[in-house]
Amino acid sequence: MLDIFKKAQENKYAVGAFNVSNLEQIKAIFLAAQNLKSPIIISASEGEAEFIGKKHLRAIIDSYKKETGVEVILHQDHGKSFETIKDSIDAGYDSVQFDGSKLSFEENIEKTKRIVEYAQSKGVKNVEAEFNHLEGQSALIEKIELKKENFTDPSQAKDFVERTGVDALAVVIGNLHGVFKDCQNPKLDIDRLKEIREAVGQDVNLVLHGGSGIAEDDIKEAVKNGIVKINVNTELRMAYTNSLKKTLEDNPDQITPYKIMPLVVEAVQKVVEEKIKLFGSDNKL
Ligand code: G3H
Ligand code: ZN
Repeated sequence: MLDIFKKAQENKYAVGAFNVSNLEQIKAIFLAAQNLKSPIIISASEGEAEFIGKKHLRAIIDSYKKETGVEVILHQDHGKSFETIKDSIDAGYDSVQFDGSKLSFEENIEKTKRIVEYAQSKGVKNVEAEFNHLEGQSALIEKIELKKENFTDPSQAKDFVERTGVDALAVVIGNLHGVFKDCQNPKLDIDRLKEIREAVGQDVNLVLHGGSGIAEDDIKEAVKNGIVKINVNTELRMAYTNSLKKTLEDNPDQITPYKIMPLVVEAVQKVVEEKIKLFGSDNKL
């Protein structure tokens, strides 16, 4: 198991996995982590990684890591194919997620197993998988009704992790991608989480996707009951875009990027700091 998760498990906190696609977001996350002495996971989806470039991402993160001393891992978020995952591993990522949630259970197991084998052969110690599809997208979304029958089933989770050998599992327990336009995201099913934790055992890390828009008490309960990684994207995108819009509106004649972007960085940093404190990963470096 990666050290970052071992420590989180032992000390009952979760590490935030923050999505990025540009330098300002990376800078904001590192400033927050450095300020609060927190480990972090920098995550990029297929689209985000394509924009910034996987090798550039690796190099920028290494540079910040060296300068700040922050414990960080670079993670492939929602990789949808073997090729994507291989590409990320070859670019030097520390951790990968294969998202086969749109495949049949058996096909997902086959593909996940192949990825686990490749990752292990390259010394990558964290493969995360997902077999229940998580609804929504990282944006402000219309309300959707989540059905309990689509939540992660504990015995299926046990079967999946045993047959694939994955290190981490993304669970569906009432979470979703994005934030409802009225900001009232559904509640998490903590009892279901406890049952999953019990079924898969301590060697598998449980991951909560859709970390935006979830009530603080739910997050705290989820962390208490075994979640060690929480993915956050939408709230960071909102902070970035809202702050950029406001800065441009307030300063219509300003055209200098390095004078426009500090407020954007500050807005993203503020959200990351709130999440770090909520997840309990502050003062853990
Ligand atoms: O994989 C990324 C996350 O699950 C982000 O979810 O956009 O709801 O914060 P979110
Ligand atoms: Zn996700």
